[in-house]
Amino acid sequence: MKRHLLSAGDLSRDDAVRVLDTAVELLALSDRPIKKLPTLRGRTVVNLFFEDSTRTRISFEAAAKRLSADVITFSAKGSSVSKGESLKDTALTLQAMGADAVIVRHQSSGAPHRLASAGWIDGSVINAGDGTHEHPTQALLDAFTLRRHLAGDTGDLEGRRVTIVGDVLHSRVARSNALLLSTLGAEVTLVAPPTLLPVGVGSWPVEYTYALDPALAKADAVMMLRVQRERGGGGGFFPSSREYSRRYGMDARRMSLLPDHALVLHPGPMNRGVEISAEVADSARSVIVEQVTNGVAVRMAVLYLLLSGEGTTR
Ligand code: NCD
Repeated sequence: MKRHLLSAGDLSRDDAVRVLDTAVELLALSDRPIKKLPTLRGRTVVNLFFEDSTRTRISFEAAAKRLSADVITFSAKGSSVSKGESLKDTALTLQAMGADAVIVRHQSSGAPHRLASAGWIDGSVINAGDGTHEHPTQALLDAFTLRRHLAGDTGDLEGRRVTIVGDVLHSRVARSNALLLSTLGAEVTLVAPPTLLPVGVGSWPVEYTYALDPALAKADAVMMLRVQRERGGGGGFFPSSREYSRRYGMDARRMSLLPDHALVLHPGPMNRGVEISAEVADSARSVIVEQVTNGVAVRMAVLYLLLSGEGTTR
């Protein structure tokens, strides 16, 4: 594995399988009364969050703590970033504190690459979501969840069909999943209104279509995406939430078009009633809560593999 995890495209198939297999072992730990391992004792992990987050931030924090690392959580609100401190000066401060890993979420696409390539930080940089670009650990936890249900714990996603639906244009989750799932051999279909597909989607390793219903019958899983209003998804991209949900929302009728074994995923946070109905979100096919549990194990695996130096190339 490379020293940093910036893009799902950084992972070869072997790397990705290694993370997933390691996570299988680590997940077993979450059923034990004592969940902690001493593996990263004495190492410092910094959670550097410039953008709001619930799941990803606490998931990384839990993962690092379960591996006994010292964790510093830094959110831009309440820090000197709100006084105008630059990414560089923030990074130099973290470096001065001896961070072994910096987990960064930033509203600007490319910020984690900048941190990793500018030489401001000696440790590993892990991208926890940058703008509309990538969110590789989300893709890993999604792949982990898909694998458990569709292929058995250490099975293979080769040929499995995953349909990703919604605001692909603004979704770092969709981009990372398209890369990772195709690396793992799955067949990915994107479904979105033409206005919410990125320019150049033709060069992605996926198929795409504008019509949801016909794509459902062959899906092994559907991944619903949030309409990203804070990035401009919504206003101007479709006539109204009602219209969006009628054409692209997952509701009970659409769920009945899926094969019996098919799963429904969503990275959260959900807009219930827009891209997914409450009935679907809370149904037996939904693995949305399990995705969160699996996220901790997958992030433990990433931290373990990057920080213990096992198999990383510098
Ligand atoms: C995603 C994100 O932040 O990109 N959520 C997450 O990490 N759990 C998706 C989203 O915000 O819609």
